[in-house]
Amino acid sequence: MNSNNRIAVCPGSYDPVTNGHLDVISRASRIFDEVVVGVVNLPIRKGKTLFTTDERISFISRATEHLGNVRAEAFSNLLVDFARELGATAIVKGLRAISDFEYELEMHQLNRRQAPDIESVYLMASSQYSFLSSSGVKELATFGGNITDLVPDYVATRLKEEIGR
Ligand code: PNS
Repeated sequence: MNSNNRIAVCPGSYDPVTNGHLDVISRASRIFDEVVVGVVNLPIRKGKTLFTTDERISFISRATEHLGNVRAEAFSNLLVDFARELGATAIVKGLRAISDFEYELEMHQLNRRQAPDIESVYLMASSQYSFLSSSGVKELATFGGNITDLVPDYVATRLKEEIGR
């Protein structure tokens, strides 16, 4: 790893990753030298996520292997501490509708207070993904809705298996 590399973290729960997340991750990979997708692995959330941390990471690794400069890693400490450990200078997130703004502004301010040297960068969601969320996809899958084009095929298959259990 070159010490001049610009490293960004794309953090989230990714339960599961959606094509909207993947759009933001691939756009970030064109701006930064390295992108680390930080997958939240909190013991208090154990059992509250549909997929295990390992499976959430494997979905992302499979969907991003063609990009070359993206990898997924679990983290269970403060996001800014994880970013520092990686030598990242930026946290990259997607912004969908105005409804995301308030939450993201709060997260930005919390993170900035802890680490003023780590910049938060927001990429506007592509229009076809502006109302796409992991929880929406899970809800659609629960009631037999069509989730083609919202998540990778293998994620759709696993969603149907998990939800059908
Ligand atoms: O909405 P998400 O996907 O659950 O977001 C997760 C994350 C980590 C991006 C968000 O909660 C955040 O920015 N938190 C800042 C505070 C922090 O570091 N929490 C610890 C998470 S392990």
